[in-house]
Amino acid sequence: MNAIEIRNVSKRFKERDKHFHALRNVSLDIRKGEIFGLLGPNGAGKTTLINIMINLLEPDDGSVRIFGKPPQEVLESISIVAPNSRFHWALNVGDVFSVFSEIYNIRKEEARKRTESLARFFSLERLMKRKFSSLSTGESMRLSLAKALLNHPKVLLLDEPTLGLDPEIAIRVREEILRINRKYRTTILLTSHYMHEVEMLADRIAFIRKGEIVDTGTVEKVKLKHFSDYELIVKVRKLSAAAPLRKKGFRIRGNILTKNIRIGDDVSEIISFVKSRGMIVTDIESRKPSLEDYFVKIAGER
Ligand SMILES: Nc1ncnc2c1ncn2[C@@H]1O[C@H](COP(=O)(O)OP(=O)(O)O)[C@@H](O)[C@H]1O
Ligand SMILES: [Mg+2]
Repeated sequence: MNAIEIRNVSKRFKERDKHFHALRNVSLDIRKGEIFGLLGPNGAGKTTLINIMINLLEPDDGSVRIFGKPPQEVLESISIVAPNSRFHWALNVGDVFSVFSEIYNIRKEEARKRTESLARFFSLERLMKRKFSSLSTGESMRLSLAKALLNHPKVLLLDEPTLGLDPEIAIRVREEILRINRKYRTTILLTSHYMHEVEMLADRIAFIRKGEIVDTGTVEKVKLKHFSDYELIVKVRKLSAAAPLRKKGFRIRGNILTKNIRIGDDVSEIISFVKSRGMIVTDIESRKPSLEDYFVKIAGER
């Protein structure tokens, strides 16, 4: 069974008396234990979809099933970390754990064990007496993640988890996300408009644009989908035979030869061609399209 099944979900909002689709006919399957990345530009509908998954919004059409059940029946096994997740300023870190243990009806002894283990996991032990308002951005993000794991969720929804974080803190948060997934086997749905983040974390991704899923699959598959060729760069010690190289399709700059080749082309045949013209190949590099290239191409299309 898939952890999450989203079927033909549509959601319309009204803006200045005009209806528009924030989501249109969205279908997705998210597998148990995977990190799934929902990637798309601002305003694409990512948060709207997450809000439907936690029953904060009702879809106009379609359905969401989490472990086979509608969201409202499994809310206790879902946790969310949203960019504006904050706690009352006067609570200290230890209070956050105890308040939420109570909300989740976790028994005292069990709550103590979970708090201890999560505080260790997220290096929060020496901050237990610190007020929320005094935490740095990175510390408060780690607290949000720890709190989100307190109820041992089967599904963790992370809405733009590194938005606005300093690069070194964002790196740490990404590491934590991977560690959570590895240690607890938590199914994670992550939204982001950072390509490299999704590329680094997600097993599979979907690209959403203007409320519609454009592509879905492994990162590798999705990013190559709209590119039929990529660049092969060959460096030679000394250039000779420029004319036949150009004829073969190479662009030449100094001793660097660049050629567009199709995925699956025989690279060794191309290298042999260069060698057969008496040149010594000193380096070979291929530049496959990145998820960033993909994003720019797709987001720009009408
Ligand atoms: N409650 C709402 N009422 C009207 N429009 C909304 C509401 N929530 C979101 N929207 C609009 O729906 C679109 C999708 O928003 P959102 O899901 O937040 O996008 P994302 O998270 O991908 O940036 C945007 O155009 C946004 O302005
Ligand atoms: Mg959003």
